[in-house]
Amino acid sequence: MRDTYQNSDLDAGLDAGQHLKSLILGHSIRPRSTVLARAKQRGLTHDAALVDKQMLSVDLRTPRWQDLSLALPGPKSRSASTMQKSLAKADRDPTTRRAFDQLRTRLRQTTLKHGWTNIGVMAPTSGCGTTFTAVNLALSLARVPGSRTLLMDMNMRSPALGDAFDVAVDGPIAGFLSGQTSIGAHLVRPSETLALGLNDEVEDNPAEILQDPATATTLERMRAAIRPEMVLYDLPGMLTYDDATAFLPQLDAVLLVSDGTQTMGRELKECERLIDGKAPLLGVVLNRARANSITRYS
Ligand SMILES: Nc1ncnc2c1ncn2[C@@H]1O[C@H](COP(=O)(O)OP(=O)(O)OP(=O)(O)O)[C@@H](O)[C@H]1O
Ligand SMILES: [Mg+2]
Repeated sequence: MRDTYQNSDLDAGLDAGQHLKSLILGHSIRPRSTVLARAKQRGLTHDAALVDKQMLSVDLRTPRWQDLSLALPGPKSRSASTMQKSLAKADRDPTTRRAFDQLRTRLRQTTLKHGWTNIGVMAPTSGCGTTFTAVNLALSLARVPGSRTLLMDMNMRSPALGDAFDVAVDGPIAGFLSGQTSIGAHLVRPSETLALGLNDEVEDNPAEILQDPATATTLERMRAAIRPEMVLYDLPGMLTYDDATAFLPQLDAVLLVSDGTQTMGRELKECERLIDGKAPLLGVVLNRARANSITRYS
């Protein structure tokens, strides 16, 4: 496992003390022809095209990035200024911030090079730090002036982004993905460079929602309207639920999160097997790294 996860031109152990260690890899990155073939396969099916036609009549006024509503403060913040302070506090820890900035820059270089926009953030099991990684990475990406990062709460088992940013959540993401709620009514912008797709409802059938052609159509239209540079999708544990696997065809690449205190090498191998051939694996973020975390995976 050690060789598998360290043999890359992008590979660089990114040490952030006890917090985070990241290995960004190139070994799973496929040639552009394969990526283009995948994109072609992902083209709208006849059903999706029909859904798209129906949805056009629901949402005629598609907003641009700058038209998205500014986020309103959530229950913990009493005002917009306390919300902004709590957002600023979220990425104040210098060690974590440095680690995520390193990850951000390598990620941007790789995704720009390959023309990738849709990045799934997922872990083998729950509690590994997927949301922690997605939030900190989004904050770091959003520090690049003039950039446009969109973070989507696609963990319909355990929605967490409204709380993490302490912004008000207005309705279930399922309604947005199905086309019932318009882009402008669902997405919010806590800052100039960051937008969020939030969720306030646990769903019974997330994997079915995630592979519904209507979801693919909505996301396609969303990207065409607001033109984000990168969309990060926070997904649930891949070995616990089939949600993340069901969503792989919508992704350009995957960032896998491994928890130094609980993830086993065989779990990472199993995730890699599930991802293989469906989306390029950008790398493994080793969260809560311990000195022996890497050797445990050997
Ligand atoms: N490196 C870290 N440093 C400090 N706190 C962390 C770190 N990683 C995760 N946490 C905390 O651990 C808890 C679980 O993390 P998180 O919510 O990101 O897990 P998750 O993988 O998204 O779980 P689920 O799949 O259930 O949504 C959170 O309170 C988070 O803030
Ligand atoms: Mg989570």
